Amino acid sequence: MTQAHASGKVILFGEHAVVYGQPAIAVPVSQVGVTVTIEPIPGGSRVISNLIGRNALLSSIPPSDPFMALIAVFFQATGTDPRHGVQFEIDSTIPVASGLGSGAAVSIALLRALNAHYSTNLGPVAINELAYEIEKIHHGSPSGIDNSVIAFDKPVFFVKGHPIETLNPVLPLDLLIGDTGIYAPTSQSVGDVKLLFHNHPELYQPIIDQVGEIAREARACIENGLPESLGKLMIENHQLLRRLTVSCGELDRLVEAAIQNGAIGAKLSGGGRGGNMIALVTPENAGAVRQALLAAGAKAVYGTTVMPL
Ligand code: MEV
Repeated sequence: MTQAHASGKVILFGEHAVVYGQPAIAVPVSQVGVTVTIEPIPGGSRVISNLIGRNALLSSIPPSDPFMALIAVFFQATGTDPRHGVQFEIDSTIPVASGLGSGAAVSIALLRALNAHYSTNLGPVAINELAYEIEKIHHGSPSGIDNSVIAFDKPVFFVKGHPIETLNPVLPLDLLIGDTGIYAPTSQSVGDVKLLFHNHPELYQPIIDQVGEIAREARACIENGLPESLGKLMIENHQLLRRLTVSCGELDRLVEAAIQNGAIGAKLSGGGRGGNMIALVTPENAGAVRQALLAAGAKAVYGTTVMPL
């Protein structure tokens, strides 16, 4: 039996603008994740997944399915064919289409498990590249930030098409993640922003540029231990995401509730239109902010701390 794991993620700054070449900052979230177990079985391979209630022979799944695409990508990269003789069990605690990186975490956990089971010696860079191929099926035109932060399992400063830079916060960052419970596929909001951008570049390019500038300033705040300034940048970033039309009433309510109850900053995180928001808190006010988020309608609240490396 082989087992592998991948954490979830949240984006701290720069979502959407990152698709247009601006920098973004993301961190892994170990409180949620995906575990993949591979066991030898006789005959054709089978997949069991708690995510989508699937229990099926691989031979019955269409090749266009992201799971089968991943098997094909692994086969192409390594020459190893996993379509016979194994059972895959996918066990996830990441809500689907919530901005916590469910799709990318499934890909990375599966690739890590395949790599270990078949001793194919793929390193994190190769695993990341293969996972990006699958992200393209999930999201259309992804920046690659989700698979990168999960594959490297470290805070990252990410610019599409550039080598990954890891970030080292000088102070721990205490975050609360508030889940609206609203299913919000990233491909939809990314597609809508693309349309806005295409139709009115004169309106949307400046917003995208400002989001990028905020991500650069946020990096300096994280590396110099300036949480108050970081919080202000989160609030500014949320307002810009509203102008990109990717917030919604529920996200705005959670962000407002967090700030009214002492959070240093708060914003939506990921694709938006639902999914999750994040709040930067202190150990002292985390309890009050958590209660406020639940009272304002959050379906779940996760706490995570980004530690200095
Ligand atoms: C999704 O987690 C982040 C987005 O910027 C999309 C992407 O970067 O591919 C909305």
